[in-house]
Amino acid sequence: MQFKFRLGTKAYFGADCLKNNKEEIAAAGARCMIVTGRSSGKASGALDDVVSVLDELSIDYYIFDRVENNPSLDNVKEGGRAAREFSADFIIGIGGGSPLDASKAIAVLAVNDMNPVELFKNSFPVEPLPILAIPTTAGTGSEVTPYSILTRPDVETKMSFGNDQTFPKIAFLDAKYTTSMNRDITVNTAVDALSHAVEGYLTKRSTPLSDTMALEAISVFGSCIRNLVDNDFYMDMREKLLYASMLAGMVISQTGTSIVHGMGYPLTYFKDVPHGKANGLLMTEYLRFNYDNQTEKINNILNALKIRDMDEFEKIMDKLIVNDLILSEDEYVKFSRQSEKHKSVNYNIKPVTYDDILNIYKKSLSK
Ligand SMILES: [Fe+2]
Repeated sequence: MQFKFRLGTKAYFGADCLKNNKEEIAAAGARCMIVTGRSSGKASGALDDVVSVLDELSIDYYIFDRVENNPSLDNVKEGGRAAREFSADFIIGIGGGSPLDASKAIAVLAVNDMNPVELFKNSFPVEPLPILAIPTTAGTGSEVTPYSILTRPDVETKMSFGNDQTFPKIAFLDAKYTTSMNRDITVNTAVDALSHAVEGYLTKRSTPLSDTMALEAISVFGSCIRNLVDNDFYMDMREKLLYASMLAGMVISQTGTSIVHGMGYPLTYFKDVPHGKANGLLMTEYLRFNYDNQTEKINNILNALKIRDMDEFEKIMDKLIVNDLILSEDEYVKFSRQSEKHKSVNYNIKPVTYDDILNIYKKSLSK
């Protein structure tokens, strides 16, 4: 048994964990740049709570609330410049995946004089600004991962960077900040978390330790499935989903993701499909493709979800994620060519060919 385990984030979980641990914020520095999107920070109540803690601690702050959905390189460049001009000591990221991922890029660019495209070299001469992360969705897990996923128009896809320097230093996970999510965002982000746990569990890079966290995340997600299907959202469920999302983030911090994410990126880039929904559309056929090779592990996933077999899994996923996409033949070919080159193909235990990818796309999207 050989593995490395590294988690660079201290996680505080539970109601009022931000206010109850404000000494962590006091210790982070005297000047804070808050990084968030146009609405999630305010709608969740997290921005108000952060501002009141910063006021109480007499910490100067600047609110950069211009993070785009699926942030671009130009967007994080603007944020890096703003942090530099404000002379920020640290960053508080508030939001779903986009603001939290943007925070990591901004933390690097604030102190490293580099073109944003160089982020993907994963080498940062100056230590990035510390990041404190507050999730307002339960899915991305970005608050406990080093990954930042940005949109790259030059190569027509989304691409990730991240190393040990880009883990948020601290995560404050409070489920009350996730209650402003509507039905679709709740379900799509929850399915993203499931996808992280499932892909992390099945990838070549999984470890005995990451597997225990993955199965726990899958099992907790499973305890919420009926409520997700019935749109029956309540606080305990939201807290469970946030916990599952955090665990799944800890899993992919060790293992990375796999071909579901690799194949999902073109759907988001070209067809504007929300990230979690893209994963959800592909997950059933991904599991069917791998079933003969990973039978025991996929049965473990079904058991953890308390689902009988792949047919029942498919029925539930079809209720959660409705396919409204129609791809042309050219798009199938283009997306398969792009996914074939994605690094995640190398991490699927069963070898994956271009034809396999094309088949997974077609079976997934022709329903
Ligand atoms: Fe994801």
